[in-house]
Amino acid sequence: MPAYHRLGEIPPKRHTQFRQPDGSLYAEEVFGTEGFAGNYSILYYRYPPTRVTKIAKYADLHYEEWDPGVQRHLHLKTKPLLEGGDPIFGRQVLMFNKDVALGVVRPNEQMSYFYRNGECDEVYFIHDGHGVVETNFGLLPYHEGDYIIIPRGTTYRFQLASDSAENRFLTIEARGTIEPPHRYVNKNGQLLEHAPYCERDLRRPEELASHSEHGEFEVRLKVGERVTSYWYDYHPCNVVGWDGYEYPWIFNIADFEPITGRVHQPPPVHQTFQGPNFVVCSFVPRKLDYHPLSIAVPYNHSNIDSDEMIYYVNGNFGSRRGIERSSITLHPRGIPHGPQPGVVEKSLGAERTEELAVMVDTFYPLKLTVAAHQHDDSAYPMSWLD
Ligand SMILES: [Fe+2]
Repeated sequence: MPAYHRLGEIPPKRHTQFRQPDGSLYAEEVFGTEGFAGNYSILYYRYPPTRVTKIAKYADLHYEEWDPGVQRHLHLKTKPLLEGGDPIFGRQVLMFNKDVALGVVRPNEQMSYFYRNGECDEVYFIHDGHGVVETNFGLLPYHEGDYIIIPRGTTYRFQLASDSAENRFLTIEARGTIEPPHRYVNKNGQLLEHAPYCERDLRRPEELASHSEHGEFEVRLKVGERVTSYWYDYHPCNVVGWDGYEYPWIFNIADFEPITGRVHQPPPVHQTFQGPNFVVCSFVPRKLDYHPLSIAVPYNHSNIDSDEMIYYVNGNFGSRRGIERSSITLHPRGIPHGPQPGVVEKSLGAERTEELAVMVDTFYPLKLTVAAHQHDDSAYPMSWLD
């Protein structure tokens, strides 16, 4: 839900004649969410986005579930994840529920096709790598630390940079809108003074790659578990201009301004986005609590109504033992968790933390996949003993 943006050529009035140099009309598309009641943009194409030459089933995706048999904490070591595939179909979904699917991918293949998630907003957190996301709204160059937010319905593909030796992403696929937390936004949609970031920190498409090539262009459309290949006779990124409130955008985790206090601040201060029945939080390097008797690491806590997934990005994560880069912990509802032995005493007097992590808290239980089982550190639930 970023602010109004416009790019390229658009006519002064919507739904009026807008002609190409050869006198023919550009094809207008209203691209909106929540029927016609939500945010929308209006795009102008050289060739109508309806020119389909062929349709075929590509695949039915299904997450194979893994049931650990008990309710317990999990530590998934995803650092050894093998490289493979492209950013879309190379991903390993580790946990999911009706609202969201969380995965990891180390892509090493370029996309020969475009992708459109017809149902879910997507976030890619770029742990490693750089390149460009080519979309029908324009180009989005990305680099390490970026959260790339792609609204459902966007046509896009990743172009991994040729000198990007390591590509590692955390993926969040959500059945609904991903946006800044509502409490940080005023009634006109502007980010408020107490928000940990503002409009200047958001990156929007600034360059259109307005193609006109004729040929065979595949767009893989995902709706539900079904992926369908659509072929178009013109390059799908043939937009000459657009404006509106609905488009892909980027926020870098380094631009999150931490909110700190004299005593320990609860997780909502780290909240970065909200989605349908989940939140995304960023734990970033910051000054620690400065009350003379403060305890810098979190207290034991019971997240009774949510499952808490943390992806560890960089730095030493203060309250956890045995956690490595790209580790994922899942602290599910119903069981308390907290700092491990010795950590509290060790933290006293510390003034800074260099931790960097992404947390997703879901309000409905997450199910695990067999891919998660591969990374499971089964000793983790007992790691709170001396
Ligand atoms: Fe926690």
